[in-house]
Parts: sequence; C-alpha cells; structure tokens
Amino acid sequence: MKGLQIISVGAAHPSKVVTNDDLSKIVETSDEWISSRTGIHSRFFCGDGESCVSMAIESSKAALERSGLEKEKIGCVIVATISGDYATPSVACMVQRALALREDIPVLDVNAACSGFIYALSVCQGLLEANGEKYGLVVGMEQLSRLLNMEDRSTCVLFGDGGGSVIVEQSENAVFKSVLGAKGGEEILCGGAGTKDQTIKMDGGAVFKFAVTALPYCMKKLFSFEKEDGKNYSIDDISQVICHQANSRIIDHCVKKLKANPDKFYKNMDHFGNTSAGSIPLAIEELWRMGRLDENCKLMLIGFGSGLTWGGCIISFNAKRP
Ligand code: UT7
Repeated sequence: MKGLQIISVGAAHPSKVVTNDDLSKIVETSDEWISSRTGIHSRFFCGDGESCVSMAIESSKAALERSGLEKEKIGCVIVATISGDYATPSVACMVQRALALREDIPVLDVNAACSGFIYALSVCQGLLEANGEKYGLVVGMEQLSRLLNMEDRSTCVLFGDGGGSVIVEQSENAVFKSVLGAKGGEEILCGGAGTKDQTIKMDGGAVFKFAVTALPYCMKKLFSFEKEDGKNYSIDDISQVICHQANSRIIDHCVKKLKANPDKFYKNMDHFGNTSAGSIPLAIEELWRMGRLDENCKLMLIGFGSGLTWGGCIISFNAKRP
C-alpha cells in the first residue's frame, strides 16, 4: 500500500476565551488546581453562530486553499468528531456541501473520541486505496462545550472547542504506518440523542492510568515498523511527536518513562484545553504556522480516549512553509 503525506493544514477555534479564573466563578475550582493538575490555563468555547460544523468548514476551506488543489481532486471527506451539530447529516456531509466538493466520493464521520483523528487518517487511506483516488480531506473537530455539565467541576474545566483539517496525498514516496485498538471501556461516557443526560462523565483516575500505558505502548509498536532500509524507525526519524492534548502530566510522565527529549513532544493544552479529536490537527497546524515543521519530515501522532480507544501513526508531512 502507498503511504500518506499531509500536504496542507487548516485550523479553527471559537473567538471566546474562557480562562480558569472565569470557571472559578461558576464552579468551586481555582486556576492553581486546574493548571497544576492538567497544564490547562484557558480554552475556547463557541458563542452565537459558531459550531462544530462552522469550524470544520472554516478549517477545511483554509486547508484546501493552502493546498492549491482543485476541489475536484478531493476523493473523500472524513471528519473525526463526537460533537457534530446533528446526529444526521454528518459534519462531513455539511463540509462537502459548503466546499462544493464532488458528489461521487465517500463522505462520513468517524467516532473514536480522542483517538478519532488517527482513526480518520486510516479510514481515509483505505478509501483512497480502494477507490483509486489520490487526495483526501481529513478533519478532527469538536464543540465539547455543548456536552459539558457546567456544575461538574471534575469535567467542565478540562475541555474546549476547536480542531483542524488536513489534505492528505497518497504517494509512493510517503510513509503511513498506523496502529489502532480499543478496550471497549465506559470510563468516559456521554449519552446520545434521546437519552436523559447528554453530558460527559469521566473516571479521571482510570483514564489517566490507561493513557500513561497506551501512549508508550503505541510508540513502541510504531517503532517496531521497518523503514525501507530494513532498520526500525527511531525517534531520530521523527520531527515531532504530537500526542492527544488531554493533560500535560500524561505527556511528561511518558517522556520521563521513555527517557525521551521533551522538545520533541509538543504541548498546547495550556491555551486550548482538551479538544478530543480536534487536538492533534490543532497542534499540527500551530507547529506548521510557527515554522517548526520542515517540508518533507515525519510526524508521530498518538491518540487515546473514550471507549478506551487508542491509535498512533507515523505519517509524512510535506506542506509548503507558511
Ligand atoms: O481526552 C480523553 C482522555 N482524558 C484524559 O486523559 C484525562 C485523564 N485524567 C486526568 O487528566 C486527571 O485524572 C484529572 C485532571 C481529570 C483529575 O486529576 P487527578 O489528580 O486525578 O484528580 P482527582 O480526580 O483524583 O481529584 C482530586 C481531588 C478530589 O477531591 P478529594 O476527593 O481528594 O477531596 C476532587 O474532588 O480534586 C477534586 N477536584 C477538583 N478540585 C478543584 C476535582 N476537580 C476539581 C476542580 N477543582 N476542577
């Protein structure tokens, strides 16, 4: 199978910043508690006229425009989300319509919570290969503020809204190695349409334990893939490791356990909070915009979250510098 390379990126988040101090006026919490336990200082919440769909359209328009591709070249649209505006139509369908993309391509949402963006990349690769297409639009976007119980301090301080879009190209010269899995757990739970309580509940301690095991496990599996020269991938082949941004302590714990260089592990939960499927593409776009990603480098992406899903990939990144 051919590999995948990210050839352009876009991101979107709402305009309203909500600080830890703002939240301490609503629930019994403090900036000190939130920032020391999670590394989060502020997050964005959607206001009037902003939603998962509007942000997915905004970030996808930016990614398509930056790619310089004609829109007819896009061969599938996959959106990773758990917080779409409607149960149906999917966010992907609404992006397809708004960008006037082709009507003879597969267009769907993927629900794998915080691992969603990695799952979506894998689904995209499979569909491009099966349908003989070259380019796909992959989005990770969330409006988690609509799923929060603002009286539950154990969850409402953690999450935020936003995400990003990438255009990927299937190519002989690109790399895409992925690992995906799930334990099927209910440690993070949110009722669906028609249920009484449609807000997120989480056993934070259990998820923390899962995350600090899943992250190094994924990395180990990814480093066991062979390169073209027959040697295994190593951290030296990777420009940045971009983990799901749930909690800075989870990333720090793994860096320490792996005796890795912390500079290779990007963190931006301080100003976005946990945006579930949105966190990895938000981080890719931010790194790219800051000029920290070389053309033709490789990224390691790792997600973990609800359903106790996990997923990781090594993917080529070949977008023109901003
Ligand atoms: O994106 C999906 C993946 N999600 C994750 O990876 C999340 C993983 N879990 C975590 O990041 C952490 O477990 C949390 C940040 C959610 C919680 O941190 P913790 O150190 O595990 O705290 P805790 O749940 O053990 O709570 C400690 C104390 C409790 O008080 P008592 O029972 O010890 O008196 C809580 O009631 O902190 C209390 N607490 C708070 N206090 C102030 C819980 N939330 C808050 C709050 N402000 N917002």
